Amino acid sequence: MIAADKLRITGAEVVLPCAELEATIGFFRDRLGFELEAIFPADAPAVAVVAGHGLRLRLERGGEGPAGHIRLLCREPDAVAQGGRMLTAPNGTRVELVEAETPVVVPPLKPGFVLSHMEGDGGWDKGRAGMLYRDLIPGRLGGRFIASHIRIPSGGPVPDYVHFHKVRFQMIFCRTGWVRLVYEDQGPPFLMQAGDCVLQPPEIRHRVLESSAGLEVIELACPAVHETFADSTLTLPTPHLNPRRDFGGQRFLRHVAAQARWQPWRVLGFECRDTGMGEATRGLAGARVVRPKGASETPRETHDREFQFFFVLDGTATLACEGTHALAPGDAVTIPAGLPYALGACADNLSLLEVTLPA
Ligand SMILES: [Fe+2]
Repeated sequence: MIAADKLRITGAEVVLPCAELEATIGFFRDRLGFELEAIFPADAPAVAVVAGHGLRLRLERGGEGPAGHIRLLCREPDAVAQGGRMLTAPNGTRVELVEAETPVVVPPLKPGFVLSHMEGDGGWDKGRAGMLYRDLIPGRLGGRFIASHIRIPSGGPVPDYVHFHKVRFQMIFCRTGWVRLVYEDQGPPFLMQAGDCVLQPPEIRHRVLESSAGLEVIELACPAVHETFADSTLTLPTPHLNPRRDFGGQRFLRHVAAQARWQPWRVLGFECRDTGMGEATRGLAGARVVRPKGASETPRETHDREFQFFFVLDGTATLACEGTHALAPGDAVTIPAGLPYALGACADNLSLLEVTLPA
């Protein structure tokens, strides 16, 4: 990005044609709270500049071109609009009043059994900034969930900036390599290494700084399509450390595999290291790494959860669910509520990432 002062640009204006100069100034000033900044020539005004809400409009009498469409972000659009959210200025410019803070829209769940095989080195799509993506839940359960296997083949600095996401849930699990990250109010940048994961609570500012070659992460989010905003006003790291800070009912979580304790899983003969996601999300979501401890199969069972997802980190197994399927590293499976499933022939080195909603 080029610094504005380097370009010596000091401001910006949108030029709008305007036959009714006086009436249009009145509309923007009296109705919408703009201020008149300039008007000339004094004897027969032909140009006026009105400014407000971060926008400068240059109204030119006799100007050419379309009258334009402005969106005004309002805390209470209906209080401004008084009978309609689309206004038309005397010069023809359409002014749309929209909610400044839109709630996250979570589409209804379309449950389904989704099995996604790694298939050697294929199945990757080119994403932004040299990243490769595998969609682990094509169809995305109606747009409610997305799970991506992301790979950065060549390491080095990542051209990222401070940003945040409007989400209900979002986590990143590091499969191989490492990535250097920094989060708002969570201290200095740190390395997320293989086996580690983070919970990105709604709207926490963060930045990806650097990665190793061959970095692979699994990213899960709800909803599948969500808004991302840059925040150029904030510099990371922030001076204050506030690990318990609440972000939309959740707190930031960093789970470090090397410090984790193993405990019994819900299925006898298996153990897991829990990431603490349940506590950090107040029960919204759970994430854990599961491995056999004596057993090689799970009983045939159903669940009643909104979301049940496995990613094979290591080892092999079979999955009995609408047929029998061989599972290998890189495979992912999403199982809908009410559909019986069981794992069998679990290799001793089997390692699964399990993510569930609720926890
Ligand atoms: Fe992000």
